[in-house]
Amino acid sequence: MRDVAEHAGVSVATVSHVINDTRPVSDHLRMRVQGSMNQLGYQPNRLARSLRRGKTHTIGMIVADSANPFFAEVARGVEDTTFGHNHSLILCNSDGDLDKELFYVNRLAEKQVDGILFVAAGVSGEHILALQRRFLPVVVIDRDLPDVAVDSVFTDNRRGGYLVTQHLLALGHRRIACVTGPSDVTPSADRVAGYRRALQDAGIDVDERLVIRGDFDYESGYGAVEQFLKSKPGPSALFACNDLMAMGAISAATKMGLHVPADLSIVGYDDVRLASFTVPPLTTIEQPKHEIGVLAATLLFQRIQQPDLPPRRRLLETSLKIRQSTAPPTNS
Ligand code: RIB
Repeated sequence: MRDVAEHAGVSVATVSHVINDTRPVSDHLRMRVQGSMNQLGYQPNRLARSLRRGKTHTIGMIVADSANPFFAEVARGVEDTTFGHNHSLILCNSDGDLDKELFYVNRLAEKQVDGILFVAAGVSGEHILALQRRFLPVVVIDRDLPDVAVDSVFTDNRRGGYLVTQHLLALGHRRIACVTGPSDVTPSADRVAGYRRALQDAGIDVDERLVIRGDFDYESGYGAVEQFLKSKPGPSALFACNDLMAMGAISAATKMGLHVPADLSIVGYDDVRLASFTVPPLTTIEQPKHEIGVLAATLLFQRIQQPDLPPRRRLLETSLKIRQSTAPPTNS
Protein backbone atom coordinates (compact mmCIF):
# COMPACT_ATOMS: atom_id res chain seq x y z
CA MET A 1 0.00 0.00 0.00
CA ARG A 2 2.94 2.32 0.70
CA ASP A 3 4.30 1.74 -2.80
CA VAL A 4 0.89 2.44 -4.30
CA ALA A 5 0.55 5.60 -2.19
CA GLU A 6 3.99 6.83 -3.26
CA HIS A 7 3.34 5.97 -6.92
CA ALA A 8 -0.01 7.77 -6.88
CA GLY A 9 1.27 10.67 -4.76
CA VAL A 10 -1.33 10.20 -2.02
CA SER A 11 -1.36 9.07 1.62
CA VAL A 12 -1.56 5.40 2.61
CA ALA A 13 -4.87 6.28 4.28
CA THR A 14 -6.27 7.43 0.95
CA VAL A 15 -5.20 4.14 -0.67
CA SER A 16 -6.93 2.27 2.14
CA HIS A 17 -10.13 4.33 1.72
CA VAL A 18 -10.14 3.55 -2.02
CA ILE A 19 -9.65 -0.19 -1.44
CA ASN A 20 -12.14 -0.51 1.38
CA ASP A 21 -14.56 2.23 0.32
CA THR A 22 -14.47 3.48 3.91
CA ARG A 23 -14.53 7.20 3.07
CA PRO A 24 -15.45 9.23 -0.03
CA VAL A 25 -12.49 9.88 -2.33
CA SER A 26 -12.62 12.21 -5.36
CA ASP A 27 -12.96 10.48 -8.72
CA HIS A 28 -9.66 12.02 -9.78
CA LEU A 29 -7.73 10.63 -6.79
CA ARG A 30 -9.57 7.32 -6.98
CA MET A 31 -8.62 6.85 -10.67
CA ARG A 32 -4.99 7.76 -9.80
CA VAL A 33 -4.85 5.23 -7.00
CA GLN A 34 -6.50 2.51 -9.06
CA GLY A 35 -4.18 3.28 -11.98
CA SER A 36 -1.19 2.82 -9.66
CA MET A 37 -2.65 -0.41 -8.26
CA ASN A 38 -3.05 -1.78 -11.79
CA GLN A 39 0.40 -0.64 -12.90
CA LEU A 40 2.11 -2.04 -9.79
CA GLY A 41 0.01 -5.21 -9.91
CA TYR A 42 -1.03 -4.52 -6.33
CA GLN A 43 -2.70 -7.61 -4.86
CA PRO A 44 -4.83 -6.80 -1.80
CA ASN A 45 -4.29 -9.74 0.57
CA ARG A 46 -6.97 -12.31 1.30
CA LEU A 47 -7.95 -10.29 4.30
CA ALA A 48 -9.13 -7.64 1.85
CA ARG A 49 -11.55 -10.12 0.40
CA SER A 50 -12.96 -10.91 3.78
CA LEU A 51 -13.33 -7.17 4.42
CA ARG A 52 -15.66 -6.96 1.45
CA ARG A 53 -19.06 -6.33 2.89
CA GLY A 54 -21.74 -8.99 2.45
CA LYS A 55 -23.49 -9.55 -0.84
CA THR A 56 -25.11 -6.58 -2.54
CA HIS A 57 -27.32 -8.81 -4.70
CA THR A 58 -26.25 -6.76 -7.70
CA ILE A 59 -24.54 -7.92 -10.92
CA GLY A 60 -22.70 -5.61 -13.32
CA MET A 61 -22.57 -6.10 -17.11
CA ILE A 62 -20.33 -4.12 -19.49
CA VAL A 63 -21.14 -4.38 -23.22
CA ALA A 64 -19.51 -2.78 -26.26
CA ASP A 65 -22.66 -1.12 -27.65
CA SER A 66 -25.91 -1.13 -25.67
CA ALA A 67 -27.77 0.19 -28.76
CA ASN A 68 -26.91 -2.97 -30.73
CA PRO A 69 -29.82 -5.45 -30.45
CA PHE A 70 -27.37 -8.35 -30.22
CA PHE A 71 -26.22 -7.15 -26.79
CA ALA A 72 -29.77 -6.27 -25.78
CA GLU A 73 -30.91 -9.84 -26.48
CA VAL A 74 -27.92 -11.30 -24.61
CA ALA A 75 -28.65 -8.93 -21.70
CA ARG A 76 -32.23 -10.22 -21.65
CA GLY A 77 -30.95 -13.75 -21.02
CA VAL A 78 -28.71 -12.34 -18.27
CA GLU A 79 -31.56 -10.39 -16.65
CA ASP A 80 -33.91 -13.39 -16.69
CA THR A 81 -31.21 -15.28 -14.74
CA THR A 82 -30.18 -12.53 -12.31
CA PHE A 83 -33.83 -11.82 -11.47
CA GLY A 84 -34.30 -15.53 -10.87
CA HIS A 85 -31.45 -15.29 -8.34
CA ASN A 86 -33.04 -12.26 -6.64
CA HIS A 87 -30.31 -9.95 -8.00
CA SER A 88 -30.55 -6.64 -9.87
CA LEU A 89 -28.48 -5.86 -12.97
CA ILE A 90 -26.42 -2.71 -13.77
CA LEU A 91 -25.86 -2.45 -17.54
CA CYS A 92 -22.85 -0.35 -18.68
CA ASN A 93 -21.89 0.67 -22.23
CA SER A 94 -18.16 0.92 -23.07
CA ASP A 95 -18.65 2.02 -26.72
CA GLY A 96 -15.72 -0.27 -27.40
CA ASP A 97 -13.48 2.30 -25.68
CA LEU A 98 -10.87 1.02 -23.19
CA ASP A 99 -10.87 4.19 -21.04
CA LYS A 100 -14.65 4.10 -20.73
CA GLU A 101 -14.45 0.38 -19.97
CA LEU A 102 -11.98 1.09 -17.15
CA PHE A 103 -14.28 3.81 -15.81
CA TYR A 104 -17.10 1.28 -15.45
CA VAL A 105 -14.78 -1.46 -14.12
CA ASN A 106 -13.85 0.89 -11.26
CA ARG A 107 -17.41 2.11 -10.67
CA LEU A 108 -18.79 -1.42 -10.47
CA ALA A 109 -15.98 -2.53 -8.15
CA GLU A 110 -16.69 0.43 -5.87
CA LYS A 111 -20.36 -0.47 -5.81
CA GLN A 112 -19.26 -3.88 -4.49
CA VAL A 113 -21.29 -5.73 -7.14
CA ASP A 114 -21.23 -9.47 -6.53
CA GLY A 115 -19.91 -10.22 -10.02
CA ILE A 116 -19.37 -8.78 -13.51
CA LEU A 117 -20.28 -10.00 -17.01
CA PHE A 118 -17.86 -8.58 -19.50
CA VAL A 119 -17.83 -8.05 -23.27
CA ALA A 120 -14.30 -6.77 -23.85
CA ALA A 121 -13.76 -3.48 -25.68
CA GLY A 122 -10.49 -4.70 -27.14
CA VAL A 123 -8.11 -7.65 -26.93
CA SER A 124 -6.31 -6.77 -23.69
CA GLY A 125 -7.18 -8.63 -20.52
CA GLU A 126 -5.70 -6.00 -18.18
CA HIS A 127 -9.09 -4.87 -16.88
CA ILE A 128 -10.13 -8.45 -16.17
CA LEU A 129 -6.89 -8.99 -14.24
CA ALA A 130 -7.60 -5.80 -12.24
CA LEU A 131 -11.01 -7.21 -11.29
CA GLN A 132 -9.52 -10.59 -10.39
CA ARG A 133 -7.00 -8.79 -8.18
CA ARG A 134 -9.98 -7.38 -6.34
CA PHE A 135 -11.39 -10.92 -5.99
CA LEU A 136 -14.38 -9.91 -8.12
CA PRO A 137 -16.00 -12.84 -9.97
CA VAL A 138 -15.98 -12.24 -13.76
CA VAL A 139 -17.34 -14.04 -16.81
CA VAL A 140 -16.21 -12.97 -20.30
CA ILE A 141 -18.77 -13.10 -23.11
CA ASP A 142 -18.30 -13.18 -26.88
CA ARG A 143 -14.77 -11.74 -27.25
CA ASP A 144 -11.89 -14.02 -26.40
CA LEU A 145 -9.06 -12.77 -24.17
CA PRO A 146 -6.45 -15.49 -24.67
CA ASP A 147 -4.04 -14.13 -22.04
CA VAL A 148 -6.50 -14.38 -19.13
CA ALA A 149 -7.66 -17.48 -17.21
CA VAL A 150 -11.34 -16.59 -16.77
CA ASP A 151 -14.79 -18.15 -17.21
CA SER A 152 -15.99 -17.45 -20.74
CA VAL A 153 -18.87 -18.05 -23.16
CA PHE A 154 -18.30 -17.87 -26.92
CA THR A 155 -19.82 -19.06 -30.18
CA ASP A 156 -17.97 -20.68 -33.08
CA ASN A 157 -17.41 -17.60 -35.27
CA ARG A 158 -14.99 -19.24 -37.68
CA ARG A 159 -17.54 -21.97 -38.46
CA GLY A 160 -20.30 -19.35 -38.81
CA GLY A 161 -18.27 -17.35 -41.35
CA TYR A 162 -17.51 -20.56 -43.26
CA LEU A 163 -21.18 -21.70 -43.28
CA VAL A 164 -22.60 -18.44 -44.59
CA THR A 165 -19.95 -18.13 -47.32
CA GLN A 166 -20.48 -21.75 -48.32
CA HIS A 167 -24.21 -20.96 -48.68
CA LEU A 168 -23.43 -18.17 -51.16
CA LEU A 169 -21.01 -20.40 -53.07
CA ALA A 170 -23.64 -23.14 -53.28
CA LEU A 171 -25.99 -20.59 -54.90
CA GLY A 172 -23.35 -20.03 -57.59
CA HIS A 173 -21.73 -16.78 -56.37
CA ARG A 174 -18.04 -16.37 -57.12
CA ARG A 175 -17.44 -12.64 -56.44
CA ILE A 176 -18.35 -12.46 -52.78
CA ALA A 177 -17.51 -9.26 -50.90
CA CYS A 178 -17.06 -9.03 -47.13
CA VAL A 179 -17.51 -6.08 -44.78
CA THR A 180 -15.79 -6.91 -41.49
CA GLY A 181 -16.36 -5.76 -37.94
CA PRO A 182 -13.74 -3.84 -35.94
CA SER A 183 -10.50 -5.73 -36.61
CA ASP A 184 -9.45 -5.61 -32.94
CA VAL A 185 -12.25 -7.91 -31.77
CA THR A 186 -11.91 -11.66 -32.12
CA PRO A 187 -15.44 -12.52 -33.38
CA SER A 188 -14.97 -10.46 -36.54
CA ALA A 189 -11.47 -11.79 -37.25
CA ASP A 190 -12.71 -15.38 -36.88
CA ARG A 191 -15.71 -14.80 -39.17
CA VAL A 192 -13.46 -13.36 -41.85
CA ALA A 193 -11.11 -16.35 -41.42
CA GLY A 194 -14.10 -18.63 -42.06
CA TYR A 195 -15.01 -16.58 -45.16
CA ARG A 196 -11.46 -16.85 -46.50
CA ARG A 197 -11.27 -20.58 -45.81
CA ALA A 198 -14.58 -21.27 -47.61
CA LEU A 199 -13.35 -19.41 -50.71
CA GLN A 200 -10.01 -21.24 -50.53
CA ASP A 201 -11.78 -24.61 -50.25
CA ALA A 202 -13.78 -23.67 -53.37
CA GLY A 203 -10.56 -22.81 -55.23
CA ILE A 204 -11.36 -19.08 -55.34
CA ASP A 205 -8.65 -16.47 -54.66
CA VAL A 206 -9.79 -13.70 -52.32
CA ASP A 207 -9.96 -10.35 -54.12
CA GLU A 208 -8.74 -8.02 -51.35
CA ARG A 209 -10.60 -5.12 -53.01
CA LEU A 210 -13.78 -6.95 -51.94
CA VAL A 211 -12.81 -7.04 -48.24
CA ILE A 212 -13.58 -3.78 -46.41
CA ARG A 213 -13.29 -2.95 -42.72
CA GLY A 214 -16.59 -1.95 -41.04
CA ASP A 215 -17.62 -1.08 -37.47
CA PHE A 216 -20.57 -3.38 -36.74
CA ASP A 217 -22.96 -0.44 -37.39
CA TYR A 218 -25.57 0.43 -40.07
CA GLU A 219 -23.47 3.23 -41.56
CA SER A 220 -20.42 1.11 -42.33
CA GLY A 221 -22.59 -1.49 -44.06
CA TYR A 222 -24.22 1.27 -46.12
CA GLY A 223 -20.83 2.75 -47.03
CA ALA A 224 -19.40 -0.65 -47.98
CA VAL A 225 -22.02 -1.16 -50.72
CA GLU A 226 -21.26 2.29 -52.15
CA GLN A 227 -17.58 1.34 -52.17
CA PHE A 228 -17.97 -2.17 -53.62
CA LEU A 229 -20.18 -1.00 -56.47
CA LYS A 230 -17.41 1.28 -57.73
CA SER A 231 -15.30 -1.77 -58.63
CA LYS A 232 -15.94 -3.46 -61.96
CA PRO A 233 -17.08 -6.17 -62.11
CA GLY A 234 -18.88 -5.63 -58.81
CA PRO A 235 -19.63 -8.44 -56.35
CA SER A 236 -22.80 -10.50 -56.81
CA ALA A 237 -22.99 -11.20 -53.05
CA LEU A 238 -21.99 -9.51 -49.78
CA PHE A 239 -21.19 -11.09 -46.40
CA ALA A 240 -21.67 -8.49 -43.67
CA CYS A 241 -20.11 -9.68 -40.38
CA ASN A 242 -23.15 -8.58 -38.37
CA ASP A 243 -26.84 -7.87 -38.99
CA LEU A 244 -26.66 -4.09 -38.49
CA MET A 245 -24.13 -3.76 -41.32
CA ALA A 246 -26.24 -6.10 -43.48
CA MET A 247 -29.29 -3.85 -42.88
CA GLY A 248 -27.25 -0.79 -43.84
CA ALA A 249 -26.13 -2.63 -46.98
CA ILE A 250 -29.72 -3.49 -47.98
CA SER A 251 -30.67 0.14 -47.52
CA ALA A 252 -27.76 1.35 -49.70
CA ALA A 253 -28.44 -1.22 -52.44
CA THR A 254 -32.12 -0.25 -52.54
CA LYS A 255 -31.21 3.46 -52.60
CA MET A 256 -28.91 2.80 -55.57
CA GLY A 257 -31.70 1.08 -57.49
CA LEU A 258 -30.45 -2.48 -56.95
CA HIS A 259 -32.82 -5.32 -56.06
CA VAL A 260 -31.87 -7.61 -53.19
CA PRO A 261 -31.26 -10.48 -53.86
CA ALA A 262 -31.71 -10.36 -57.66
CA ASP A 263 -28.87 -7.87 -58.21
CA LEU A 264 -26.99 -8.39 -54.93
CA SER A 265 -27.36 -11.18 -52.37
CA ILE A 266 -26.72 -9.99 -48.80
CA VAL A 267 -26.15 -12.05 -45.64
CA GLY A 268 -25.59 -10.88 -42.07
CA TYR A 269 -24.55 -12.44 -38.72
CA ASP A 270 -26.34 -12.59 -35.31
CA ASP A 271 -30.00 -13.17 -36.31
CA VAL A 272 -31.32 -10.36 -34.13
CA ARG A 273 -35.14 -10.35 -33.99
CA LEU A 274 -35.31 -7.49 -36.53
CA ALA A 275 -33.58 -9.70 -39.13
CA SER A 276 -36.90 -11.47 -39.82
CA PHE A 277 -38.60 -8.14 -40.60
CA THR A 278 -36.18 -6.45 -43.00
CA VAL A 279 -37.23 -6.16 -46.67
CA PRO A 280 -36.33 -8.74 -47.81
CA PRO A 281 -36.00 -10.81 -44.60
CA LEU A 282 -32.31 -11.39 -43.93
CA THR A 283 -30.36 -14.58 -44.42
CA THR A 284 -27.93 -14.69 -41.52
CA ILE A 285 -26.13 -16.79 -38.93
CA GLU A 286 -28.07 -17.30 -35.73
CA GLN A 287 -26.13 -16.73 -32.52
CA PRO A 288 -27.99 -18.25 -29.50
CA LYS A 289 -28.20 -14.83 -27.80
CA HIS A 290 -30.59 -15.58 -24.95
CA GLU A 291 -28.73 -18.83 -24.22
CA ILE A 292 -25.40 -16.96 -24.15
CA GLY A 293 -26.82 -14.62 -21.51
CA VAL A 294 -28.36 -17.37 -19.39
CA LEU A 295 -25.22 -19.52 -19.50
CA ALA A 296 -22.86 -16.62 -18.70
CA ALA A 297 -24.96 -15.51 -15.72
CA THR A 298 -25.26 -19.11 -14.49
CA LEU A 299 -21.46 -19.55 -14.62
CA LEU A 300 -21.11 -16.27 -12.72
CA PHE A 301 -23.42 -17.33 -9.88
CA GLN A 302 -21.53 -20.62 -9.62
CA ARG A 303 -18.26 -18.63 -9.43
CA ILE A 304 -19.70 -16.37 -6.72
CA GLN A 305 -20.61 -19.44 -4.68
CA GLN A 306 -17.34 -21.29 -5.39
CA PRO A 307 -14.54 -18.72 -6.04
CA ASP A 308 -11.85 -21.37 -6.46
CA LEU A 309 -13.47 -23.30 -9.31
CA PRO A 310 -11.09 -23.82 -12.28
CA PRO A 311 -11.88 -21.47 -15.22
CA ARG A 312 -14.53 -22.80 -17.61
CA ARG A 313 -14.79 -22.12 -21.34
CA ARG A 314 -18.12 -22.81 -23.10
CA LEU A 315 -18.44 -22.77 -26.90
CA LEU A 316 -22.01 -22.60 -28.27
CA GLU A 317 -23.05 -23.59 -31.79
CA THR A 318 -24.31 -21.21 -34.47
CA SER A 319 -26.69 -22.10 -37.32
CA LEU A 320 -27.50 -20.80 -40.82
CA LYS A 321 -30.90 -19.06 -41.15
CA ILE A 322 -31.87 -18.92 -44.84
CA ARG A 323 -34.50 -16.23 -45.63
CA GLN A 324 -35.09 -14.11 -48.74
CA SER A 325 -31.99 -11.90 -49.03
CA THR A 326 -30.00 -14.48 -51.02
CA ALA A 327 -30.55 -16.09 -54.44
CA PRO A 328 -28.45 -17.43 -57.34
CA PRO A 329 -26.57 -14.66 -59.21
CA THR A 330 -28.43 -13.33 -62.25
CA ASN A 331 -25.26 -12.21 -64.00
CA SER A 332 -23.53 -15.61 -63.78
O1 RIB B 1 -23.46 -7.14 -33.64
C1 RIB B 1 -22.48 -7.01 -32.63
C2 RIB B 1 -21.41 -8.03 -32.77
O2 RIB B 1 -20.50 -7.83 -31.69
C3 RIB B 1 -21.98 -9.43 -32.66
O3 RIB B 1 -21.76 -10.15 -33.86
C4 RIB B 1 -21.30 -10.04 -31.47
O4 RIB B 1 -20.69 -11.29 -31.76
C5 RIB B 1 -20.30 -9.02 -30.99
O5 RIB B 1 -18.98 -9.44 -31.24
